[in-house]
This record gives sequence, structure tokens and C-alpha cells, in this order.
Amino acid sequence: MNQSRIAERAETAGIDPLSAVTHPDPYPYYRELAASRPFFRDARLGLWVAAGPVEVAAVLAHPDCRVRPPAQPVPPPLAGTAAGALFGRLVRMNDGAGHAPLKALLVPMLAAIDPAAAAQRAGVLARLVEPDDALRTAMSGDRVNRWLFTLPVVTLADRLGLPVADAASGRGNAVQVAHHVVAFAAAQSPLADAQAVSAGAEAAQWLGQWLAGLPPAGGPLQGLRDAAQRAGIDPQAVAANIIGLLVQACEATAALAGNTLLRLGRGGSPSDALEHVVARVAQDDPPVQNTRRFLAVDSELCGHAVKAGDTVLVLLAAASCSSPADDARAWTFGHGRHACPGDKLAQALAAATVAALRARGADPAALARAFRYRPSLNARIPHFL
Ligand code: HEM
Repeated sequence: MNQSRIAERAETAGIDPLSAVTHPDPYPYYRELAASRPFFRDARLGLWVAAGPVEVAAVLAHPDCRVRPPAQPVPPPLAGTAAGALFGRLVRMNDGAGHAPLKALLVPMLAAIDPAAAAQRAGVLARLVEPDDALRTAMSGDRVNRWLFTLPVVTLADRLGLPVADAASGRGNAVQVAHHVVAFAAAQSPLADAQAVSAGAEAAQWLGQWLAGLPPAGGPLQGLRDAAQRAGIDPQAVAANIIGLLVQACEATAALAGNTLLRLGRGGSPSDALEHVVARVAQDDPPVQNTRRFLAVDSELCGHAVKAGDTVLVLLAAASCSSPADDARAWTFGHGRHACPGDKLAQALAAATVAALRARGADPAALARAFRYRPSLNARIPHFL
């Protein structure tokens, strides 16, 4: 059987480029797609699909491929809410003037945060996630899920200089901040229901007010605000993107840590340093499996005529499992002008979160026996039972 027949057969067996995200083992399917149909139109899903590494890079580099449909800068359910206002200002969701100048400031700011120091700090902040008496109870799936969605966000906030931990009392509003970040992140999903959208709007408002009410901080954020002012960037865009960093970190880093627990639980890489396991997981079982681009004008893409308004599903995970394993940067962190500026930090935070969980008795083998993937069209996030 030729490769395209194999890919088609897998599709008819119930896997497609969207359901692959949460399929138990989508990688043979992705590899076949990348080899046999690296760029094609999926008529049933109504999407173009880029699966080959060359095609994925070409779409992400193409000037006519935008991160939002030009007529719809904010998803309709969020429009007119605090969540929509915040979303509309994120560099992740803008091209051109709403993207490049601020991205140019975010990249060096994040690069200046030492990943090793952040991992160490995560070990200290871990006690904010749960009171010490929780140490005496078994590490249930529920608790593990909570840790995955809290510790990376709290540590990033702390490294940016946001006061989530009160040095004197050892307490702070860390858990509350993480809770609102989670709610806002969840509201962005196309699968979010009305309740999730309204919780996200409330969370966005809470986060905006919290940030606005903080005393002027020193550190990375003050540097960012000063540089943004010199560059004539709207302070509201800066504020939105500070929250945006926490939101970007939230689900993807939780997924990276969760997939690392799965890898450990299945007995993979037992003697490797945790950092190496995380780096392998980012390549082999990536947390962000795809992203989308929207055609701004009629154009040509990978040898095909495409129309304004067309959507391209960019299969980062397919590019990843069909590229040489020693590529320096994992595809799951994107490519080109919107590439993730948090990749190194995220890997350190994921490793630190797994380390904190293991230190508290989490058993990866037991976790790997009872989990499902959270419903998602782009992220592979285990939910432990
Ligand atoms: C500390 C944690 C993280 C931070 C602060 C962060 C921050 C960001 C920011 C600000 C962007 C927008 C860049 C732009 O549009 O130019 C971005 C994009 C992206 N991030 Fe991250 N991120 C983090 C963790 C992760 C993780 C763990 C993953 C996946 C494993 C990930 C995958 C991506 C991808 C794929 C994009 C690009 C999306 C696209 O091009 O459509 N990020 N990230």
C-alpha cells in the first residue's frame, strides 16, 4: 500500500488532523501525512493542512498568513468583554504594528530570565501551591492537575517581578492569580461554553485590576514599561501582554509537564536528567500540536492557490515527528515571527514542576495508568484521574 493510502486509511479509522491532538498515538498518522500529503485541502474540515516540515515553515513565514482572520480580530463569544479587549491586544493575536514592536521587547526580557534560577525559585514557591499539611495526604490526580496549572504560572509571575509571594509571611495571592489565569486561558478555546466564556471575562477583569493596582515594580516589568514608553507603545497593550505571558505559559507548560510525567510513568528515559526528558517530550509528544493561520488575501501557498479567508491548520507535531531528532528548537514552540519567546524558560518550569511533584510523592507510573486528554483542538494536555 502506498503512503497516501495508509494516511487515508488511518483517517477513515477515526483520526483526522484535529482529533489527532488527543488521540492515544497520533504519530504514525502524522508521519504518513507529512510524507504523503505535506500540504492539502481537507474538504470535510474545511481547512488547508500543512504537515511537512518545509510546508509548516513556509506557512508560518508567509506574509499573507495571519494569526487572526482579518475580519475577526477577537473571537465573537469574547467580543465586547474584558477578555475580548485583552485578547485583542496580545502580540500572539496580532500581526504588524500590534505585534513586532512589543514582541521585540518581550523577547530580550524573557531571555534575560535565567531558566536555572527560575527552576530553583519554583522549588521555593511550591509551598505556596499547597499548605505543608497537604504533604501528609496521597498525591491524587486532582492535586497533580492543580499543581501543573499553578506552579509554572506562579513562578513566571514571580520572575517577572509580580508580587505573588509575600516574603514576610510566605503567603501571597499566588493561587488566586493562577486560578484567574487558568479561567482566562480556558475562555480562549473554541470549545469554551457560555459559562467558561463568562468566567474568562471576569478573570480578565480581575487580572487587569490586580495589575493596575500594584505598586510600581522594579525588575523586568519596569524595564519593559520604560522601553515601551520610549517606543511609543500603548501602556494598555503592555499591561495586556504582561497578563498574556502568564496565559501563554499556563496550558502549554502544564501540558509539557504532564506529558513528561506520562513519559516517566511509561518507563521512558529512566536514567536521563529531567531536563533532557522534557526536551525529548517537547519533540516526541509535544504539548502544542498545531496552530492556525488565516489568509488575508488571495495568494499562493506551497504551490496551491488559496483564497482570502481560508484557514490553514499548521501541524507542528507532524513537522516535529518527521524532522531529524536533533533539531535544536522543538517545533511545538512555533517558528518564524510568532515563535514562542518562552521556550527555554517553559522547559525549565516544566522540569521544576515535575520535580516538585515527585518530591511530594507523585507516582508517574500510577498517573500514567489513569488519565485522559482534556478536550482541545490544539493542545495535548493530560488530565489525571
Ligand atoms: C514560560 C512559558 C511561556 C511563555 C512566557 C510563552 C510566551 C509566548 C508568547 C508571548 C507568544 C507569542 C509570540 C508571538 O506571537 O510573537 C508565544 C507563542 C507561542 N508559544 Fe509560548 N510561552 C510559554 C510556553 C510555551 C510552551 C510550553 C509551548 C509549547 C510547548 C509554547 C508554544 C508556543 C507556540 C506554538 C507559539 C506560537 C503560536 C503561533 O505561532 O501561532 N509556549 N508564547
